[in-house]
Amino acid sequence: MNKILVSPSILSADFSKLDLESLSLQQCGADWVHCDVMDGKFVNNTTFNHETVAKIRKAVDIVVDVHLMIETPELFVDDYIDAGADFVTFHLEACKDSASLIKHIKDRGVKCGISIKPNTPVESVFPYLDDVDMVLIMSVEPGWGGQKFLPSALPKLATLREKCPQLILQVDGGINLENVQSVIDAGANSIVSGSTVFKSDDRASIISALRGK
Ligand code: DX5
Ligand code: ZN
Repeated sequence: MNKILVSPSILSADFSKLDLESLSLQQCGADWVHCDVMDGKFVNNTTFNHETVAKIRKAVDIVVDVHLMIETPELFVDDYIDAGADFVTFHLEACKDSASLIKHIKDRGVKCGISIKPNTPVESVFPYLDDVDMVLIMSVEPGWGGQKFLPSALPKLATLREKCPQLILQVDGGINLENVQSVIDAGANSIVSGSTVFKSDDRASIISALRGK
């Protein structure tokens, strides 16, 4: 059984102090901090760039987990690696040559994740499973926090867990205390949750509860 890692998303945090918010997550027991980078092109929203990731890196000791929701990630990935990202995850839908981007990220000594949107078939990640450290299955259409969980993520998680018992499987979008056990049972072992964590006044207990029973 893989250890369940909780990676709260700062998309729902106070953007005026994302470094302090990330430190608060660390102090509340988060395993990772999930940094949702959006460029306004791949998704119809913008958030922050590598400069903010560098500030978060300075503020925390836990894993900095960068989720790139950007077009042509190959043009920008080095900025996030130089900023101190431990994991860099990009979308297969945004990249023309995923195999070489995966190799580049790994050659730079950083963990590599690939992500697919709800409408992208799980088979699209099969060619890369031997090369990546993580697959991120989106359980909402990327771009916004606070959306409703899409159960279509569950069979994708189960298929990948069956094929790759040791792979880090991350799920992201609409995860709360009501549905987290279903994604863990399907095979997820890295849990991203934004609004559920940040709308609570007890982040530590939410983070602990997101590890399931
Ligand atoms: C959406 C982001 C998710 C999202 C999760 O594009 O990738 O990380 O912020 O937030 P909640 O948990 O509020 O759906
Ligand atoms: Zn995300």
